[in-house]
Amino acid sequence: MHLHPQTVNKQALIFTRTFGLGGINALLFVLLVTTGLLLRFSYIPTPEGAYDSIVNLQNNSLFGSLLRNIHHWCAMFMVITAFLHLLRVFYSQSIYYERKRNWYYGLALFVFVLAFNFTGYLLPWDQLSYWAVTIVTSMMGYLPLIGGTITNMLRGGETVNGNTLLNFYTFHTALLPVLFVVFMVLHFLLVRKAKGVTVADINKHEMVKVNPELVSKEIILALSAVLFIILFSVFFDAPLLEKANPLLSPNPSKAPWYFMGVQELLINLHPIFVTLIVPLSLAILLIYIPKIKIDNSKVGTWLYSSKGTLIVLSSAIYSIILTSLLIIVFEYWLLLYQLNIPLIISTGVIPFLMYLIPAIGFVYQLKKVLKADKVEIIISIVTMVFTSYIVMTIIGIWFRGDSMQLIF
Ligand code: HEM
Ligand code: HEM
Repeated sequence: MHLHPQTVNKQALIFTRTFGLGGINALLFVLLVTTGLLLRFSYIPTPEGAYDSIVNLQNNSLFGSLLRNIHHWCAMFMVITAFLHLLRVFYSQSIYYERKRNWYYGLALFVFVLAFNFTGYLLPWDQLSYWAVTIVTSMMGYLPLIGGTITNMLRGGETVNGNTLLNFYTFHTALLPVLFVVFMVLHFLLVRKAKGVTVADINKHEMVKVNPELVSKEIILALSAVLFIILFSVFFDAPLLEKANPLLSPNPSKAPWYFMGVQELLINLHPIFVTLIVPLSLAILLIYIPKIKIDNSKVGTWLYSSKGTLIVLSSAIYSIILTSLLIIVFEYWLLLYQLNIPLIISTGVIPFLMYLIPAIGFVYQLKKVLKADKVEIIISIVTMVFTSYIVMTIIGIWFRGDSMQLIF
């Protein structure tokens, strides 16, 4: 009862308002903390002990495999549900005015979810985890000036070793949980301060009692989600390959799936662009968005206007075609690194502009033909950026084979 007010706007109870995604994220976090604490009873955070302790848990403990599976799948689902929740608040115009700060807290929570997943990934200490972490920490090394230092600090040495495992274990089970809880509490507090989630019609004030109207729906959703996770964990095992071997790198060596988009970008674009220019531009975009002053009556409106669906669909399709086409062109026809000019131009500026110019052209057309306003343009840009990342993730996971060559 301390989480909710006594009454809420009836419109807030409509499922398609929130899809319950914020609540599902909170539920997944609770499940992760509970199963994580139980895992700690048997987990040994050393290169000699980690892998064997997990095999031992799986083979010799009652429900050991189930426990590990639940932790693993909750973590994977949380990347997806946190991203979907981000999309829901963005596309339902729920990030402006008094909700602006909650967008920023949300972004921090999203970064923590990725950090949790990435630090957890190393803990099983098998071939998959060892080499995925090697790849991602090397990617960080491309950051100009400070990249090498960050990589060495994270790894606690030149290569991924026992110090890395201890670093990651401490982040994963001590520092990140505390940070996450603090930000989650602030996040909830701001939802309360904004008088609940956004509603479609701000002039309708029909209030209903939280208990049982909202609480009963939350319980049904939570129980269904738990049932789904348990069933999923019964049928699908968390992956565990052979024990990590620092002398034998698998071919291809891939990052964890949620970072495959970044690895794919590195194949096509100069590292300075991947580690600095692209993330910086993205950060500026995400920080800027909620600062826009939109018409108050549009707050809470799915896709903003009657043109919204057309804008989102056309931007997504355009971005799928543009991204896939560029990847194929760079792989087979336009071998940019062979041009006799500095690499930063041939593999940096040129491919970057080859994406940027058609994208700007598209947005310009939206403005001209559909008379799109500022918010609609932002919706188009964000849709293009996210769709490109999803396309690169899919190509990285399923269409890259030996030595990361494109395969069909
Ligand atoms: C207090 C909270 C937590 C504790 C004490 C904890 C503890 C652990 C331990 C001991 C392991 C190693 C066991 C294993 O790999 O099977 C592990 C693995 C892992 N954790 Fe956590 N964890 C916590 C929260 C989280 C959260 C919030 C996430 C994600 C959002 C997460 C994601 C992962 C992942 C992806 C793995 C690797 C699982 C695997 O594939 O085996 N953990 N965690
Ligand atoms: C991953 C952990 C997160 C948890 C546990 C969480 C939890 C919640 C909950 C329970 C709500 C209210 C109900 C709902 O909208 O579903 C909410 C609203 C909100 N969340 Fe999150 N959230 C998380 C991540 C994010 C992210 C990644 C963003 C965006 C970057 C975000 C931005 C917002 C905003 C702006 C609202 C207010 C929406 C409105 O008033 O309609 N949150 N969050």
